[in-house]
Amino acid sequence: MSHHFVRYTDVHYRYNDGTEALRGVSLEIKHGERVALLGLNGSGKSTLMLLTDALFYPTSGEVNVGDVPVTEKTASMIRRSVGFVFQDPEDMLFMPTIYDDVAFGPRNMQLPEEEVMRRAENALTLVGLKNMGEKASYQLSGGQRRSAAIASVLSMEPDILLLDEPSANLDGKARKNLIEILNKYEHTIILATHDLDLAAKICHRAVVLEEGRVKLDSPIESLISNSELLKEMSL
Ligand SMILES: Nc1ncnc2c1ncn2[C@@H]1O[C@H](COP(=O)(O)OP(=O)(O)OP(=O)(O)O)[C@@H](O)[C@H]1O
Ligand SMILES: [Mg+2]
Repeated sequence: MSHHFVRYTDVHYRYNDGTEALRGVSLEIKHGERVALLGLNGSGKSTLMLLTDALFYPTSGEVNVGDVPVTEKTASMIRRSVGFVFQDPEDMLFMPTIYDDVAFGPRNMQLPEEEVMRRAENALTLVGLKNMGEKASYQLSGGQRRSAAIASVLSMEPDILLLDEPSANLDGKARKNLIEILNKYEHTIILATHDLDLAAKICHRAVVLEEGRVKLDSPIESLISNSELLKEMSL
């Protein structure tokens, strides 16, 4: 996976109950780009991320990460370079302690324990949970759980970072901290959010989904500064 671009080619996804969540998404995201994925509830943002992290596979069309097509065969390889912060942090914290959750990814990558520890401590410090590692997730507040979920992905140092509504539950300080972390991140970021201000502070490109299709793909500045366009995009 030399060049970690992400390419979606006419991607369709239908859930088991028949819901057409994605109806022909084509996009190319270059390495190092920071893209805000915007759109109303149910427009397909989370579904697109699930397909990018090999958790689901397109009903038709193709997702490529670098030159690797996302398939069941390549799933574990894909997940080594793609890190996904789920919309619901409860889905990500399952170990006895927060430290173990944050160390889980690096351990899974079979890194030496010293490196695992370095990465876990660094990620916990970054998100402001330095002294919370020994707690269980149920002992944290909602916002702290969100931060722990973010740390559990940062510790893997992914080439492509997917964040699904990461600022939900975060207070002003944690949100500002998140913006700082993401602005220092050198790799690709795909950020699904309803928080336009957050999107504008982190991303340079906006992709708006509507009913499973790309409705707009433009520099985020030209979207944010155009109230007519924002209205047209229902944002
Ligand atoms: N497990 C599922 N089974 C059936 N349909 C689903 C499932 N998950 C999502 N959907 C449907 O797929 C469509 C896209 O949902 P998705 O979760 O991708 O939207 P979203 O843009 O992330 O929305 P939100 O802003 O609310 O997070 C919606 O119509 C939704 O109802
Ligand atoms: Mg969603």
